[in-house]
Amino acid sequence: MKTGITGATGQLGRLVIGKLKERVAESTIVALVRNTEKAKDLGVEAREFDYNKPETLAESLKGIDRLLLISGSDLGQRAKQHTNVVNAAKLAGVKWIVYTSLLHTGNTSVSLAEEHLPTENAIIESGIPYTILRNGWYTENHTSSIGGVMAAGAVFGSAGNGQFSSAARADFAEAAVVVLTGTGHQGKIYELAGDEAYTLAEFAAEIARQTDKNIEYNNLPVSEYAKILESFGLPGFIAEAIAGWDVSASKGDLFDNSNTLSKLTGRPTTPMSEVVKNALAALK
Ligand SMILES: NC(=O)c1ccc[n+]([C@@H]2O[C@H](COP(=O)([O-])OP(=O)(O)OC[C@H]3O[C@@H](n4cnc5c(N)ncnc54)[C@H](OP(=O)(O)O)[C@@H]3O)[C@@H](O)[C@H]2O)c1
Repeated sequence: MKTGITGATGQLGRLVIGKLKERVAESTIVALVRNTEKAKDLGVEAREFDYNKPETLAESLKGIDRLLLISGSDLGQRAKQHTNVVNAAKLAGVKWIVYTSLLHTGNTSVSLAEEHLPTENAIIESGIPYTILRNGWYTENHTSSIGGVMAAGAVFGSAGNGQFSSAARADFAEAAVVVLTGTGHQGKIYELAGDEAYTLAEFAAEIARQTDKNIEYNNLPVSEYAKILESFGLPGFIAEAIAGWDVSASKGDLFDNSNTLSKLTGRPTTPMSEVVKNALAALK
């Protein structure tokens, strides 16, 4: 029984491979990656796998029974890329696809759903047994810019009082591994989010508490926030998308209190304060 993991050299993929190795034999894990050089340290078989090369994908999926399709990172290209993978999985006889989607896809204003929903539909329509992991926000989306927050003395955003039920990347990786190595998950769509929800003002207050510095939350109109992000070097369309996700959060679209993630993994999700602590420690 071989398990293939796409995006295995990415941040989530690396965590999944590490946790999977604790539960199944390394010889049964295949990292499906764009660059096999980058996969050398994973300690498992690596095969070339680029979502943009549809003609090569079925060959790389030979002998794979369970496939974790980790969504790609090229905004705007992903519905097509993911469909390439689903078509290849069908050709190669993959028996189960687990896909990392987006929280409340189908009922959210988060623009990312425009690519996740067609992917979910392509998977379901393929007839291959599936499990959809609708992942909420990574807490690291907020903490990755903690150096900038410390320099500016402020968290910027457009989320108002919207609450983020985020969890650590490692929590989502754990859920994927629990599903891949468990039973009874086929045909299920899981809405996965953190146990704890917080506003960006509460996030700023947590950084202030841990650093003993004055860190405020500065809520901005969406166009102003997008301009700030662009001034940090992000392409305009990405800056606008990120600022727009905050607006979605302000409407409650990144909130979820089902606790499905912690029920699946059997332990509480990582508190936001712990992810902040780790991010601050990494600055030193
Ligand atoms: N829930 C959230 O808050 C959140 C936040 C950010 C992203 N995401 C989604 O979750 C995914 C995993 O997150 P992450 O943190 O691991 O992101 P990441 O570190 O950027 O990893 C993305 C992975 O996708 C691979 N990839 C990109 N384009 C590809 C292509 N054309 N063919 C094959 N592989 C391709 C990358 O390959 P390389 O290693 O070769 O670059 C990388 O391994 C992201 O790609 C994105 O769809 C979710």
